[in-house]
Amino acid sequence: MASPLNDPKLEALLDRLHARSDAQIDEMDSYYARRKQDGSLDPENDCDDDMHRFLADKMVALDRDKAEFCYQLCRALQATRVVEAGTSFGISTLYLAAAVRDNQVEHGVVIGTEYESGKVKIARENFREAGLSEFIDLREGDLRQTLEDVGGPVDFMLVDIWDVALPALERVSSSLRPGAIVVCDNTISAAEEYRDYFEFVNDPCNRFRTMTVPFQGGFELTVRI
Ligand SMILES: C[S@@+](CC[C@H](N)C(=O)[O-])C[C@H]1O[C@@H](n2cnc3c(N)ncnc32)[C@H](O)[C@@H]1O
Repeated sequence: MASPLNDPKLEALLDRLHARSDAQIDEMDSYYARRKQDGSLDPENDCDDDMHRFLADKMVALDRDKAEFCYQLCRALQATRVVEAGTSFGISTLYLAAAVRDNQVEHGVVIGTEYESGKVKIARENFREAGLSEFIDLREGDLRQTLEDVGGPVDFMLVDIWDVALPALERVSSSLRPGAIVVCDNTISAAEEYRDYFEFVNDPCNRFRTMTVPFQGGFELTVRI
């Protein structure tokens, strides 16, 4: 299927990055199966030190169809200012930055955030290779600090992070302009972990309308009203 990006150089880079991310999925599945089998996973805290070490170099990229959907949404919104919670090696960031570039708006920016310094370094190299660095403000550190001030109204937010989805949205919520869209990945397959996130977006005081789009694992699409 044709990509909406219409940028062969960027698509070639994305082909390479998605292929590497996909190749890590088997490794991750085996790791989770082993931890489940040996009973070492704490159901209250499955992101323990061992898990943290294991995931430190994993890309865990957003699926390609979802990333292309984000590109399309950002084009439809004529998005100028975008926030991404969970950048990793920057695959989804490349789609968002391409949309901001293609929107040809002034001062367009994608604010990304990532706390693994090794991933930050590689993400920056990917942004350079794609020629998209000028559209990306990648903030290294814990998003509970890095997203405290997003510097102005936000048109679109991608939440691609398993355990701090709500803290991410809480920090950006007051900056979302009417009509802004927030998408969040795997909200069916990891529904338990998103319980507090759903309470927040369904609370009328927070001025959202939300629905689950049937991409694999569930993709929550939430509109600021
Ligand atoms: C699912 S991955 C993001 C994948 C990325 N959106 C993509 O498509 O390439 C989530 C990332 O969030 C990072 N992360 C987890 N908790 C974080 C936190 N509290 N602050 C900043 N980054 C965090 C992880 O290191 C991981 O790289």
